[in-house]
Amino acid sequence: MNDSNPNPAGAVALCCSHVEGATWESRLRAALPKASLTVWPAVAAEAECAIVWSPTQAFMDAHPRLRVIFNMGAGVDALMRLRLPTHARVVRIEDGGMAVQMADYVCHAVLRHFREFDAYADDAAAHNWRPRKPRLRADFPVGVMGLGALGLRVTETLVKFDFPVLGWSQSIKHVEGVTCLAGADAFDEFLSRTRILVCMLPLTPLTRDIVCSATLSRLLPGGYFINVARGAHLVESDLLALIQSGHLAGATLDVTREEPLPPGHPFWTCPQIALTPHIAGQTVIDEAITQIASKINAGFGDPRLSGFVDPERGY
Ligand code: GLV
Repeated sequence: MNDSNPNPAGAVALCCSHVEGATWESRLRAALPKASLTVWPAVAAEAECAIVWSPTQAFMDAHPRLRVIFNMGAGVDALMRLRLPTHARVVRIEDGGMAVQMADYVCHAVLRHFREFDAYADDAAAHNWRPRKPRLRADFPVGVMGLGALGLRVTETLVKFDFPVLGWSQSIKHVEGVTCLAGADAFDEFLSRTRILVCMLPLTPLTRDIVCSATLSRLLPGGYFINVARGAHLVESDLLALIQSGHLAGATLDVTREEPLPPGHPFWTCPQIALTPHIAGQTVIDEAITQIASKINAGFGDPRLSGFVDPERGY
C-alpha cells in the first residue's frame, strides 16, 4: 500500500479472536470488496495492513511488512504489549458507538448509587414501603479519570444530570461545566474533591494499579468506585479492604483483573459490589467497520487520518 496513492485492493490480514469473529469477517469482506482479506492463522506475509483484536506475537512475527494495524476496539493495551513490526502504526476505534454506551452505563451506576435504588429494590422485595431522605447532588461530586473521546462523553452527560463533575487527565482539557485538572501534581486535589470515582483511563505502565489504597482512601468519605476501563487499573484487595472498613460505600465493576471473574473470587459475594461482564462499551461492528474501511479507502497518507496511537504514551 502506498501512502500517497491509496490502494484499497491491497492485502489485509485479519486476526480476530473475537466472539463475533465470523460477523467481522463477512462484514469486512462486504465493506472492502477490492481487498484481499486473509484470516489468521492463514498468513498474508506481504500485507501492509491488518485488522486485529487480541492478536498474538506469532501473528505480528508472521506479518513483518505491516504499516497500519487497525484495532477493533478502543483499548490498545493488549496490542501495545507485543513487539510490533518496525514500521507499524496502530489505529484504534474512535468512539464507534461506544461513547454513548459508556455514558449510559456510568450514569446508570452513579444514579443507582446516588438514588439508593438497590436499597429500594431490597425494600420492595421485603414488601417494605420506606421513603428515604433525598440526598444532595452537591454531596456527590463525580470525578472521571481519563478524558479521551469516551471520558469526555461521560463527563458531558453527568453534567446534564446536574452532578458536580471533575475530570483528570494527563494534559489539561476544557469541558464546559467540568472542573478539569491535569497531571500528577493535581491528582491529590482531584481525589480529595471526588466522592464517586470513575476510571476511564487507558491501561499503560503508568496507570496500572493506579486505583489502590492510597488513591481510594483520599476520596471523600462514603466514596464509590466505578471501573469501565481495565481490571489492572485496580488493586482488588485494596478496594475490598476499604469497603470492609466503611470508607467506601461500594463499587460498580465492568472489568476485573482476570476475565471471566474466577469462581470463588470475593467480588462475586460482596454485597456492595455490582458486577457486569465487560459490556459497558461494546464495539458496534457496523460503525467500527465503516470507520476502518473509510480510513483504508482514504489511504494512509491522508493527513486527516486520526485515531493513531502514540507509541510513547501507549494510547
Ligand atoms: C473494550 O474494552 C475496548 O477496548 O474496546
